[in-house]
Order: sequence, then C-alpha cells, then structure tokens
Amino acid sequence: MNIIAFSGSPRKNGNTELLLNETVRSIEEAGHSVKTFYLNVMKIKACQDCGACNETGVCIFKDDMFQIYDAIRSADRIILASPIFFFSVTAQAKVMIDRCQSFWCEKYLLKTPIKSSRYGRKGLLLLVGAMEKEIGIQCAEACGQAYFRTISVPEHDTLNFLGIDAKGEILKHPSALKEAYEAGQKLVK
Ligand SMILES: Cc1cc2nc3c(=O)[nH]c(=O)nc-3n(C[C@H](O)[C@H](O)[C@H](O)COP(=O)(O)O)c2cc1C
Repeated sequence: MNIIAFSGSPRKNGNTELLLNETVRSIEEAGHSVKTFYLNVMKIKACQDCGACNETGVCIFKDDMFQIYDAIRSADRIILASPIFFFSVTAQAKVMIDRCQSFWCEKYLLKTPIKSSRYGRKGLLLLVGAMEKEIGIQCAEACGQAYFRTISVPEHDTLNFLGIDAKGEILKHPSALKEAYEAGQKLVK
C-alpha cells in the first residue's frame, strides 16, 4: 500500500507532528511505510490562477510540488495534518492544496480523475487548534474535504482536538495520541 502524509505545521515537534507521529507509528507497526512531506521546508509557489492547467491538467510551475503531484497520483492513503491557523489549515498546507487545482481540472474539465488502485483511496485529516469553539475546525474540515474530493479520495476520517495551544500540550490530552494511533490502524485495515 502506498501511503503519504503531509505535515502542515511550521512548529517542529509541535502538537500536529506529535499526533502525526503516532498515526505513522501505527501504520509502520502494521508493516507499511509512510512518506511524509514537511510542507514548511518545501519550496511551493502559490497558485497564480494562470489557467494553464485548465487545458492540460498540468501545472506550469516546476518546483517541489512536482514530487507531491507524483506522490498524490500513486497514493492509496493520504494523511493531511495541520494546526488551525485563523480558522483554516495553515498557509503551508493551503499552498499545497491550492496547487492541486491541476487535479481539479484533470478531474472535472478533462474528465480524467485519478484512478483508484485495488486498495481504494482513503484519507485522514488530523487537526489541532487552541480554541474551544467548533467553528475553526469546521472551516478547516470543509477545506480538507474539498481537497480530498479534488484529488479523488472519496472517503476520509477526521480527527480533531480543540483547546490545545502550547507546544507539546497534546501530550497531556487524555486520549489524543491513542486516537491518532488507532486512526492509523483503521486507515490501513
Ligand atoms: C498564526 C496562528 C493562528 C492561529 N489561529 C488559530 C485559530 O484560528 N483557531 C484555533 O483554534 N487556534 C489557532 N491557533 C493556535 C494553534 O492552532 C495551536 O497553537 C496549535 O496547537 C498549534 O499546533 P502545532 O504545535 O502543531 O503548530 C493559531 C496559531 C497561530 C500561530
């Protein structure tokens, strides 16, 4: 099974990465490997809405997004992990998501969606935010859902944790790491 993950937090070893590490650990213990992209250290230009991909389904900007395009195309499982920044995913995650407009063109304009493998394509969205209000999570979840559907991932689970702010605070949550671990197990079952 081909499994990829995106870490959208700029904070190394922060709450998002701690959660993602647990998910990856469970997947690896089930005998799979995971290729993780740390978006904060990648060079990805923001979508310029130039329209080139409308005709071809291919983005004209040759940057680190090209390794991501290939990885998304061949993935059976895709994990997107991000903290909530201003009621959405981080800019690091969003710039990658916006560049998937070429997949949107491929799917909806050129009518050639990414084909599924025998494992199907499934996603997992991991979100963590400081506020207790649900609205931040709801906005990020809507963005995550649009992303997964665009890249032809028809189903995904979402795990979200509210009220988590300080670096490493997720470690004090009574069940978060266990839930992230179990979400990984479920993803590859
Ligand atoms: C620029 C910025 C904007 C933020 N906006 C929100 C927000 O809208 N809602 C929220 O719940 N938390 C918000 N937070 C808090 C982070 O989501 C929270 O600290 C999270 O635990 C960080 O995860 P990390 O350790 O993986 O980076 C914001 C943090 C920053 C730095």
